[in-house]
Amino acid sequence: MKKSSVAELLNSDKILQEVHLKGWVRTFRSNRFIALNDGSTIKNIQCVVDFENTNPDLLKRISTGAAISITGTLVESQGKGQTVEVQVTDLEILGDSNPDEYPIQPKKHTLEFLRENAHLRIRTNTFGAIMRLRSALSFAVHKYFTENGFYYFHSPIVTGSDAEGAGETFRVTTLDPKNPPLTEEGDVNYKEDFFGKEANLTVSGQLEAETYAMALGKVYTFGPTFRAENSNTTRHLSEFWMIEPEVAFNDLDANMDLGEDFIKSVISYTLENCKDDLEFLEQRLIQEEKGKPAAQRSEMALIEKLRFVVDNNFKRVSYTEAIEILRNSKPNKKKKFQFPIDGWGADLQSEHERFLVEKHFKCPVILFDYPADIKAFYMRLNEDGKTVRAMDILFPGIGEIVGGSQREERLDVLKQKMEEIGIDEKELWWYLDTRKFGTAVHSGFGLGFERLVQFVTGMGNIRDVIPFPRTPQNAEF
Ligand code: 4AD
Ligand code: MG
Repeated sequence: MKKSSVAELLNSDKILQEVHLKGWVRTFRSNRFIALNDGSTIKNIQCVVDFENTNPDLLKRISTGAAISITGTLVESQGKGQTVEVQVTDLEILGDSNPDEYPIQPKKHTLEFLRENAHLRIRTNTFGAIMRLRSALSFAVHKYFTENGFYYFHSPIVTGSDAEGAGETFRVTTLDPKNPPLTEEGDVNYKEDFFGKEANLTVSGQLEAETYAMALGKVYTFGPTFRAENSNTTRHLSEFWMIEPEVAFNDLDANMDLGEDFIKSVISYTLENCKDDLEFLEQRLIQEEKGKPAAQRSEMALIEKLRFVVDNNFKRVSYTEAIEILRNSKPNKKKKFQFPIDGWGADLQSEHERFLVEKHFKCPVILFDYPADIKAFYMRLNEDGKTVRAMDILFPGIGEIVGGSQREERLDVLKQKMEEIGIDEKELWWYLDTRKFGTAVHSGFGLGFERLVQFVTGMGNIRDVIPFPRTPQNAEF
């Protein structure tokens, strides 16, 4: 007999028909009521066992976490909390789960405990909801770009470049660390390494994406990204997923429009398609915040907050204006910022970004025209000679969610910048070629996918929105 999913049965009109399903026991009450979940929805289906006519040894094996197969009749439920249930006629244990050892008992576990059990945490309602949302968001990303004429471009994972120039790359090598080949000067001789040169895991697919935008017009990447930055924060991972659209002939304004439209579109998709999971996470947040002082509670519930972002314009503010606002702000005057703002040119820290978004504007903010000195080499220099056409999108509770720019398309200006900061032209000859042959205005940005998932799920720690997080000192599983 064909297997149905729990999601199908809960929405079906198969009343009084025989049904077949498989899943994992969430709870088993009164030797009668199994709450069965198969991952297809956050909801469990109640399966009622005729315990008087069931072998007691079999009943004992129906424990939390066990995999079971059920055949029975779908009926309207007598009890509260569900509309339909399954009257079990045949039950088979597919895989036992020893209740004395199974870590995911039907009770509240801390997120820290669940992180240590990341291979099983997905069996909880919270992580089921998060990961279904993560999947829906990925689909929404591809849907948005495909419907808007973009091509999906697979940027390489192993590269020779450090696009962001921050020196936070993971080296890829097959050399023997104890006995590497040396040059005459005594340095490691990477000519003898696997790729015949120094190679690392990508920190961004942007530079390669630019070459594709200059032929296909509109492209985007969506892939794993690696950064060896030693940041143990709730917003940093060593391995994360980034989405990087790159568009020929787009200037910075068009880039900001694209960023705003894109984010609104993927959030709308979850509002329309992930109601049950969002409602669950909203309740979870409300419960979590009950323990907090009123000042620390969110002003909006999760779904209202998502609607707010979709329905309102992001505020666009230049870096220079933002610095003025911050300099004159209460926390700055009262020396409440860990990094006080005293002049133009300072890099913004997450405390400043969050002040602008959460306290001052109370909506997502796009900051643009940053000082050249604090941004990457490839951003287009403005006429003032000191700012670049950069833009960051800042979100409540998150801070920076997007970083992007209009690119420097003028060969001479780009070369001069590279020389100034010591990037060897020979290393990026292919990148410079795009400026030699048919150069044009173009722009793009990178959106940190996990930060987006954090925002949509309301999860405070980025380690809880990626299946198996990689962070400094941690690559378990
Ligand atoms: O601002 P970033 O460094 O920009 C770039 O990499 C550009 N090449 C993008 C482009 O223009 N194509 O990173 C972009 C975004 C950040 O805004 C943030 O959301 C996310 O990537 N991000 C991280 N997310 C999780 N963990 C980290 N360690 C991250 N570093 C950046
Ligand atoms: Mg950035």
